[in-house]
Amino acid sequence: MNRIFSGIQPTGNLHLGNYLGAIRNWVALQDEFECVFCVVDQHAITVWQDPKDLLRHTREMAAALMAAGLDVEKHILFNQSMVPGHSQLAWIFECVARMGWMSRMTQFKEKAGKDRERVSLGLFAYPALMAADILLYQATHVPVGEDQKQHLELTRDVAQKFNNDFGVEYFPITEPLILGEATRVMSLRDGSKKMSKSDASDFSRINLTDDADTIAQKFRKAKTDPEPLPATVEELEGRPEASNLVGIYAALADMTKAGVLDQVGGRAFSEFKGELTDLAVSVLEPINTRMKVYLEDTDRIDAVLRDGAERANAIAESVIRDVYDIVGFLRV
Ligand code: AMP
Ligand code: TRP
Repeated sequence: MNRIFSGIQPTGNLHLGNYLGAIRNWVALQDEFECVFCVVDQHAITVWQDPKDLLRHTREMAAALMAAGLDVEKHILFNQSMVPGHSQLAWIFECVARMGWMSRMTQFKEKAGKDRERVSLGLFAYPALMAADILLYQATHVPVGEDQKQHLELTRDVAQKFNNDFGVEYFPITEPLILGEATRVMSLRDGSKKMSKSDASDFSRINLTDDADTIAQKFRKAKTDPEPLPATVEELEGRPEASNLVGIYAALADMTKAGVLDQVGGRAFSEFKGELTDLAVSVLEPINTRMKVYLEDTDRIDAVLRDGAERANAIAESVIRDVYDIVGFLRV
């Protein structure tokens, strides 16, 4: 059986990178796979979150995911902290994974920066919780953006080591699904930095909640180089900002970068940015409108998450029972 799991942090500023790198693929994969999607509030608190903001962002994220087209009846959508199995399995994985593995995680190094001694222990252990998220549902496939590749390799290592240590064939070796032409959307201000929720400049990203004027303004101000657009993908080499905008266009239009350049090669950026804006608005505006409607009824969002959690828990509980037996824990 094939099962998908993926997660996203409720930390506000859901942006075009999240949409093109992850959410859009989640929506597309729903026909083929049984899916479990999770708003990972426990991951969010590895860095400080104001409790009121966390709760609001959890609901906003759920609303955005539903607005983007997740079918919450056919599939499961819930928030992580509602299903105790995530913490239970994470602890066991913290005892399977090695300090050295965690020390090599680039996301930890980036987030901790120079202040390594002062970040939370949870930030260091974050990938063990992520492995637990995935393996708690024995997921076979995980759709994510490029930046999560290393965490998924670690998930495979955890599954393998658990199976070896305990002499079982219990956890599957999960496959990452890194799909589309925009697996790593870059900042609009700096083509060497990824588009991120935490960038201080709002002009670095297109938020899913931006209106048409804001989107137009952000693309107009997006950094580019003075050359016109090239005719081939090879010529995008060494032009990170151009490559990023072409990739965004391609992903939004469901085309390849080569296909886009066939159409727009030779044009000036000013013209291309106008077309990119129209395309982005046509994709994002309906999502934005639906999201606002969902957010008017937070009781309904909470009910969706609770119902999802109940269904997720049914899977999770049976895995935890098996794992407790494998590890040698006496259970209730
Ligand atoms: P996060 O916002 O870190 O919880 O990420 C949620 C999902 O969005 C993950 O699958 C990430 O890989 C993906 N993602 C985040 N930022 C980007 C980006 N700039 N480009 C492509 N995918 C991204
Ligand atoms: N670490 C992921 C991110 O920051 C979010 C995440 C948590 C996740 N658990 C997951 C993604 C499990 C895929 C599968 O983007």
